[in-house]
Amino acid sequence: MAKAHTSWTVLKHGPLERLSDNLWRVKGALPGMSLERVMTVVRRGDGSLLLHSPIALDETHQAELEALGPVAVLVVPNAGHRLDAPAYKQRYPKAVVFCPPQAKSRVEEVVPVDGTYPDYADDGVVRFEVLEGVAESEGALIVRSADGVSVVLNDVVMNMDKKKDLLGYFFTTVLGSAPGPRVSRLSRLVFVKDQPALRAHLERLASLPDLVRLIVSHEKVAHGEAAAAALRQAATYLKSS
Ligand SMILES: [Fe+2]
Repeated sequence: MAKAHTSWTVLKHGPLERLSDNLWRVKGALPGMSLERVMTVVRRGDGSLLLHSPIALDETHQAELEALGPVAVLVVPNAGHRLDAPAYKQRYPKAVVFCPPQAKSRVEEVVPVDGTYPDYADDGVVRFEVLEGVAESEGALIVRSADGVSVVLNDVVMNMDKKKDLLGYFFTTVLGSAPGPRVSRLSRLVFVKDQPALRAHLERLASLPDLVRLIVSHEKVAHGEAAAAALRQAATYLKSS
């Protein structure tokens, strides 16, 4: 795992991509890897921003983000996604940090944690569920927008193409994380503790009324009917009993 950045460190990234009235994402590079990461930006009911898996942006794009609303909540969706969290906390000291329960001690090595997902009260736009079957190591962020509901997952479901560079080949082919949508072989070996429970949870998310989008931290968005289909397809990588 790369060491967390203690100063504002900008790696290559794309634009702020608007997905709905209160929802954006940015895709960016990871150090020394072809795999990309995704930051999801949500404008909450009170107008402030929640950032899921924060990525440090160049000043032009960071100003664009700041124009959307004050940064209020930083979500570190597992211990492996804490790279830019300390720099964000330095830049926005009033922002509170949330993470899944199991990740708390490792996230706290780099940034103070204000609460875990069960502590986050549904604010009318955003709510969290701790995923079943993964020992509380990840969750689902569920966002209500004008056009429907979006589910935001972290590493539990990956949705990317195979990579050809050496490290990318290792991650996507040897560790079985592409092509997506899927639950990677590495996840099944390392962090999924109860496959049927996680499978049932992904299927429940697929059945959410008004589901219009599945966003994952690596890499693609599934829109419209493809969102439920992506969740159901990912679930098939898990045993049902
Ligand atoms: Fe990840």
